[in-house]
Amino acid sequence: MQKIVENHEVIETVHLNENSYVLRLKSPVEIPEIHPGNFAEIQVPDTMGVFLRRPFSILDVNYKNREISFYIKAIGSGTQKLGELQPGMQVNLIYPLGNRYTIPQGLKRALIVGGGTGIAPFILLGKELKEKGIETTFLIGGRTSKDILLTDKFSEYGTIEVTTEDGSMGEKGFVTSHSLFNRNDFPFEYVYTCGPDAMMKAVGHLVTQKGVVCEASLENMMACGYGICLCCVTPTVEGNKRVCYEGPVFNVSYLKWQN
Ligand SMILES: Cc1cc2nc3c(=O)[nH]c(=O)nc-3n(C[C@H](O)[C@H](O)[C@H](O)COP(=O)(O)OP(=O)(O)OC[C@H]3O[C@@H](n4cnc5c(N)ncnc54)[C@H](O)[C@@H]3O)c2cc1C
Ligand code: FES
Repeated sequence: MQKIVENHEVIETVHLNENSYVLRLKSPVEIPEIHPGNFAEIQVPDTMGVFLRRPFSILDVNYKNREISFYIKAIGSGTQKLGELQPGMQVNLIYPLGNRYTIPQGLKRALIVGGGTGIAPFILLGKELKEKGIETTFLIGGRTSKDILLTDKFSEYGTIEVTTEDGSMGEKGFVTSHSLFNRNDFPFEYVYTCGPDAMMKAVGHLVTQKGVVCEASLENMMACGYGICLCCVTPTVEGNKRVCYEGPVFNVSYLKWQN
């Protein structure tokens, strides 16, 4: 797969709540084909404290306008600094990295389960599922209604269900307690998930018990981002695999954390 290593110009930073934002960038060159699940390594500019690039799922792409965007939650110095970038500033990116969510032939109904920053890969996935005529439900979980973001985007590609821990929006509880999972006739043939490890494990466990395939995109800590340093490995039934290279998307039955 062709890789881009280029400075990109900041178009704008759209703040969604007190710590999350969408970073819109303009590429100087044509953007190669991006698949749902692919990520970029972004260099945090003008900082002494953050040496390593930071990995982020690609949120959306506009090939015609050479625009690429990211949904970022500020949790530390790198993500805070990226949120302070002003229009016209330059930021260096390497992408597309990693593998992709798979869409099996004949799939009719898919469930997407996202929590926290784990919603980021699901605009591109929702878009592709819709193009293929697959009926999609997005189940999005957060602590409060303030964490439930980008729903206007998701609603272009499917129906939306929400859970919040405090009950301020949608059903009260975790995504795994949503009534969709309690139905006798679980109507989905394939489930895609991304979010905190504990959430993905719980979703994977629940879904595989129903005999349904589940793919998860792991967000292990990374350094190089392209398979050299081995700092991102995860145990699988075939030994340790690099999340940045063989992943980040894995069938949960392949992961050792399922057992
Ligand atoms: C493939 C992949 C895709 C990702 N996609 C997104 C995305 O779309 N949007 C987004 O906001 N974030 C995403 N992340 C997570 C993002 O890379 C981290 O939040 C970021 O690197 C933190 O950098 P920082 O300098 O702000 O934090 P640091 O100062 O490096 O760390 C702050 C705190 O967060 C913890 N931390 C750092 N990275 C992670 C991680 N990956 N998982 C759990 N805890 C972590 C550290 O241990 C520390 O306690 C993704 C990660 C991966 C591997
Ligand atoms: S981050 Fe270096 S091998 Fe994955």
